[in-house]
Parts: sequence; structure tokens; C-alpha cells
Amino acid sequence: MLSTLEARLLRYLKRAYVPYSHRPSAVVLLFSDGYYVPGVRVENASFSLTIPALHNALTTAIALGRRDVVAIMLSEPLDLEAQALLEGFQEDLFPRFRPESDRLFVATSCENLPMPQGELSPFWTKRISHATEGIQEARKVAAYAHTPESSFPVGCLLELDDGRCIPGVNVEHRDWTRTLCAERNAVSTALSYGLGPGRWRALYLSCVRRPERTSPCGACRQVMVEHCPELPVWQDRPLEPEVLSARSLLPGFFALQ
Ligand code: THU
Repeated sequence: MLSTLEARLLRYLKRAYVPYSHRPSAVVLLFSDGYYVPGVRVENASFSLTIPALHNALTTAIALGRRDVVAIMLSEPLDLEAQALLEGFQEDLFPRFRPESDRLFVATSCENLPMPQGELSPFWTKRISHATEGIQEARKVAAYAHTPESSFPVGCLLELDDGRCIPGVNVEHRDWTRTLCAERNAVSTALSYGLGPGRWRALYLSCVRRPERTSPCGACRQVMVEHCPELPVWQDRPLEPEVLSARSLLPGFFALQ
């Protein structure tokens, strides 16, 4: 049982985006029905925008509508960062966990872990045939956002070259610095699933409560442009969506390599 998850972790480590530290880390979350999701570390040239593996995995779960995490297995011992992240989310989002080791945490309510069944599909059920539809679907994705601090849900879809789409929502944290926006959520989910920028076709974004305000924040621009400067970013507007490439959203962007 646990050996299956250990084997998956070894595979997931290869997906970590760690060009600056060369220190990969990964996480696997197991759900009550035996399905699991990966999370990998996604570094950024602006180091502080790096997404830790656990953060990546937990926000993937929220975007996919799953909160029933029964076990967390990490490639590295749980550090202070991961502990703070988990504590700030736990209250309202996930169950409480007890340590079984420094790399394995099990929900206190769970007596027997389910047999691993397979990787949870990261895909939105619908494919997109035109930009307006992409925005309509991104508005629906926003229903999965977790926004106790702002009541400002954001949804996005990252469309792949084969038409499948990966959802992202904003997931707020009691400590605001650990809030993750919808766009970075989708990007980091794609990387965790081994779906790199060579396969990204477009991103559709909606700030549903205020469509006219839809615009990626500076941090998301920095992360999107690092992976895919030519990515078309479609933004919700009251009439027609507006598209700009990631590069044009962040002229003169900072890169380390
Ligand atoms: N937010 C996003 O998810 N994407 C954006 O492009 C703009 C901001 C989120 C972050 C926070 O949860 C809320 O919207 C208010 O800033």
C-alpha cells in the first residue's frame, strides 16, 4: 500500500521544476476513495514565488473539488513551512492529521487507509471550442475557489494542445502570504502532472464577481512568463474576452537563465 505511494513519489520527483536549487521535492495526497494527486516543487527566478510541493498538491485538490485527504506522503521530512501551511489550511479545509513518521501524515479520523486506485484526473470535464466558451467555463471553475478572506473567487482553465483543460482557483490561507492565485494553481498542477509548457495552448481567466477587473496579478505574470512567454491569456470582459500574451503582460520580465 504505502510502497505504491513511495514508488509514485519517486516518479513525481522527476517532475519538480527546480532549475535554481537542483533540489527536487514532491508530495502525494491520498483521498478516501484511493485516488491520489501529485504535487511538486515549482521554483521561480524570483525565489519567493516558489511553490512548495505540499502547497501545490493541496491547491490542486481544492481546484478539483476534493477535500477528503486521508494521507499525505512527502519526499522530505515535513519542514516548518509545510507545517505552517497545513495548520493554516486545516481549520476550514482539510481534516486534522497525525504523524506516522516525519514523511507520512494520516487523517486522525482514518483508521484504515484505502488501497491506492490511481491518479486523480486533473482535467475539467469540458473541452473548449472558442475563447468565449473558455471564459464561460473558467467562470464555472471559480465555484471551487476557497476565498474566506476576500469573497473574491477567481477561476481559470489552462488549455492543452489536445483540448483538455486543467482548472485553477484561488485558495486563500489564514496567513495571506500563503494564498495561491488561480493562474499559479493551474500552472503548478500542470507541472505536477508532467504536462509542461510545450503543451499549453491558452489560459482562460475570470474574476467572476467583477469580470471587468479580470487581470493576472504581478506574481502570476512572473510565473506564467517564466514557463511560457507566448501563452495567450484570455481575460473575462463584460462583452468580448481580451487576449494578451504572457510576455506582453510583463514587458522586460526578470529571468535568471
Ligand atoms: N487572485 C487570483 O486568483 N488571480 C488574480 O489574477 C488576481 C487575484 C486572487 C487572490 C486572492 O485570493 C483574491 O483574488 C483577491 O486578491
